[in-house]
Amino acid sequence: MPQYRSALTAIAHYVPDTVYDNQWFAERMDTNDEWITSRTGIKERRIMTDGATSDMILPAAREALENCGKTAADIDIIIVTTVTPDMMFPPTAAIVQRELGAKNAWGYDLSAACSGFLFGLNSARAFVESGVAKTVMVCGADKMSSILNYDDRTTSILFGDGAGVAIVERSEDENVGIIDAITHIDGSGEPYLHMKAGGSRKPASHETVDNKEHYVFQDGQAVFKKAVIGMAEVSAEVMERNNLTGDDVAWLVPHQANKRIIDATARRMGVTDDKVIVNIDRFGNTTSGTIPICLSELQKNGQLKYGDNVILAAFGAGFTWGAIYLKWAIK
Ligand code: UT7
Repeated sequence: MPQYRSALTAIAHYVPDTVYDNQWFAERMDTNDEWITSRTGIKERRIMTDGATSDMILPAAREALENCGKTAADIDIIIVTTVTPDMMFPPTAAIVQRELGAKNAWGYDLSAACSGFLFGLNSARAFVESGVAKTVMVCGADKMSSILNYDDRTTSILFGDGAGVAIVERSEDENVGIIDAITHIDGSGEPYLHMKAGGSRKPASHETVDNKEHYVFQDGQAVFKKAVIGMAEVSAEVMERNNLTGDDVAWLVPHQANKRIIDATARRMGVTDDKVIVNIDRFGNTTSGTIPICLSELQKNGQLKYGDNVILAAFGAGFTWGAIYLKWAIK
């Protein structure tokens, strides 16, 4: 048994104002609204035209602190999950720490692509449950527009920018909070989803820029096949381990990569459509941002009730994937 139960005590999000709808893409490349909508479920994405990933995190972080009555000085650890840090180093977590004035915090960036927020939450859980930290801020954020080739119709239409921030603390009530988590990583996924250059294996050069190697590369079909099985299986496994049926689940909050992957996951779990959170139509795939943005919207709309059984599920580059079972702890 852990020393303490951990729980999300606040959640907030930020998405930029600029909208790229399917028409925006249709005017620039060989694509159309019908293809994008039927294959992905996406209609619009929000784009950060000015500023960095931390500039999306900060407003959400301030709102999350306000929501749970905490100040920046109360934060013990800041975890920023992203594949689009402000810079390669220092960690974006340090920039967030500085701008918030979180003078008592340490922190780090966590790179797990579309599973980033889920892995970050599981890390925060471990810190809180063990008593190492009392208050952890988990920031899931990506400015995907900074690494997209807007000449490539197979990737550019999929992603958007956005950030979500959760505060994880000791739960005052043992019966609610983060109950269970299953997380996986498998590096055999590397060939199918990666950025070719800019890392230590292939540093930036004129050649890498000319070859457009600083953008998202994806073999969509290969990733789709793995994601559709991986996200569904791990979600079903976390339910089975906790004796949950589809009827017991109040909300499925899945990573928003493709509406067809979300539907397959819900079917495998036996969860009806009305309990499945989908905002991919408005925001596209915001990578680390998807799950906290969904949770924040749900909370803002008053749809989450104290004690609700919530399943979070994700799949992404690596491959990385996992599911978290939590009982909603915000009144
Ligand atoms: O979040 C991180 C993890 N990522 C994912 O989970 C994404 C997983 N993959 C997917 O969601 C899907 O594979 C995509 C949405 C990326 C692609 O859908 P698909 O049904 O797998 O299409 P496809 O790649 O098999 O392409 C089918 C056709 C191809 O044309 P041909 O070869 O059949 O003539 C593509 O060139 O669709 C073409 N195509 C497009 N057509 C119009 C690809 N992109 C577009 C486009 N507009 N934007």
